[in-house]
Amino acid sequence: MCGIVGVIAPDASRRAFEGLKSLEYRGYDSWGVCVPAAKGGQFDLERHVGRIANALVSVGEGSEIALGHTRWATHGNVSERNCHPHLSNDGSVAIVHNGIVENFVQLKEKLSKKGFRFNSDTDSEVIANLIQHHIACGFVEAVRLSLLEIEGSYAIAALHGGEEKIVCARNGSPLVIGAAKGGEYYVASDATAFLQHTKNAVFLLDHQMAVCGKGLLEVRSVESGRRVRFRQKRLSWSIEQVRKGSFDHFMIKEISEQPSSIAAAVNQPRKELARFVSILSGARNIVLLGCGSSYHSCIAGSYFFSSVAGINARAILASEFPSFAKFYGKGSVVVAVSQSGETADLLEAVKAAGGENGAKVISIVNVMDSSLMRASDCTLLMNAGPEICVLSTKSYTSQLAILLLLAYSLAGDEWGGKQIIREAADAAKSILDSSRGAMQALAKKLADSNSLFVIGRSDAFPVSLEAALKIKEVSYIHAEGFAGAELKHGTIALVEQGTPAIVLSTQKTRSLTTSNAIEMKSRGAFIIGVDSQPNDAYDININVPELGSANPLMLIIPIQLLSYYLAIERGCDPDKPRNLAKAVTVK
Ligand code: F6R
Repeated sequence: MCGIVGVIAPDASRRAFEGLKSLEYRGYDSWGVCVPAAKGGQFDLERHVGRIANALVSVGEGSEIALGHTRWATHGNVSERNCHPHLSNDGSVAIVHNGIVENFVQLKEKLSKKGFRFNSDTDSEVIANLIQHHIACGFVEAVRLSLLEIEGSYAIAALHGGEEKIVCARNGSPLVIGAAKGGEYYVASDATAFLQHTKNAVFLLDHQMAVCGKGLLEVRSVESGRRVRFRQKRLSWSIEQVRKGSFDHFMIKEISEQPSSIAAAVNQPRKELARFVSILSGARNIVLLGCGSSYHSCIAGSYFFSSVAGINARAILASEFPSFAKFYGKGSVVVAVSQSGETADLLEAVKAAGGENGAKVISIVNVMDSSLMRASDCTLLMNAGPEICVLSTKSYTSQLAILLLLAYSLAGDEWGGKQIIREAADAAKSILDSSRGAMQALAKKLADSNSLFVIGRSDAFPVSLEAALKIKEVSYIHAEGFAGAELKHGTIALVEQGTPAIVLSTQKTRSLTTSNAIEMKSRGAFIIGVDSQPNDAYDININVPELGSANPLMLIIPIQLLSYYLAIERGCDPDKPRNLAKAVTVK
């Protein structure tokens, strides 16, 4: 995971530092910045354990070139010595790295024999020393030769003392270059790090490297070293979308944006939507793949495909796909669902299904030009705008909206699909307005709970999984979601006096979920009904409108609010839950 930045512009260290703040969602256990030292071809380094939060960068005033890194530890514990940037032995090379050098042990051994010493426990430090080892060939070539020796994934940016250029490269981890007026360049894991300076972006492909100097940008193939053509794109995201504005946290901002993000999900290019429908209609079999919340969307998608289009599609966790890959070869269609488009488990599954097996891969992605988008035969973009909070909220409902639109389109009723999703967008606004206060009050009541259960049947079942994930990941209260009937096959043993249980109920499932609610209530549970109708079985009723096949989009919204307010009540940071990072780029 981790986020990297490189800046060639006035006031570079402060700009790198500001860029890192918007990349903190990629990892936030430690951070660092480096700039060239006043003389001697060396670097001034500042590295800290902990979050950037309200820290200030102290190095590099007046510097026009800088590197920065925010870390999610993989190799080596969270400590200053393991923070990036890392310097080579003689201090002449500085690097920041996102990814994993799989053969770092062998490389370390090789370099140690040549007299190199290592000052950290990271895999990344070998990159700095490899570059120093090859430096006689020139900086750019030294980086290239080093990359050729590395097995694994990387997005790197490197500096060499005395040279006013950043050399960067990618393979399997995201990297984008921003080109601003006045010959300024920004290198980052994600364009949000430089959006305030420019919307002109060049997305590097895997196995490409770039040389950025003042007013200079060259892209080269890592393999041959030869220059290659590149395209500059104009980003559609706005700076307001990556700022909190009047909100206290990104989580509540992004929850509140759902009326517009759900509505934006239906704005799909006709040609792409038609292509999706044609691929899916001709499929021998269909599998929906995702991780975490995106996997929950996949399960919801399988219900939509079944109930709306009469099509059987299976949802499988991307990490578990290898056990079933043999059933999805030529003639099969993989629908890969991901906010970031960089989730390693999903990319691996897609690679196996599409490449080796010959299945068609179509994807639903939020981040343009992400690795998943490139690995897919075609993609529908979610149009949700940047999601900065580590938790998925608006991207989850956008995924549901697109899967529902696909189900309707497959049933030959694209118009009906768009209509119901637009109704859902309007209803989302009324739910947000009407349930905010109630959720705040409920959070106060539940803040000291140890454990909580959520049940739902039919298409509300995947919502119960998502609801439980939201609550536990942000408030650290243990929560579990179940299909309504499952609770009594074991877990009901844990229900005792006062145990909170959320019951997600719809017109279609009400009679059975009411029985399940009563079973729990009679054992002392405190029942919170999320339903369009009051019910004697509920101790509290959170009203959401009945919207038929779009119910899953409605049911989750009050729970997102509840999760947010539970985090606030319990003093947790809703934007950066402990141990988590937004883009999970490790397997
Ligand atoms: C939960 C959450 C994660 C992600 C998962 C997949 O709130 O955000 O469970 O859904 O890591 O990420 P993407 O969608 O980027 O593939």
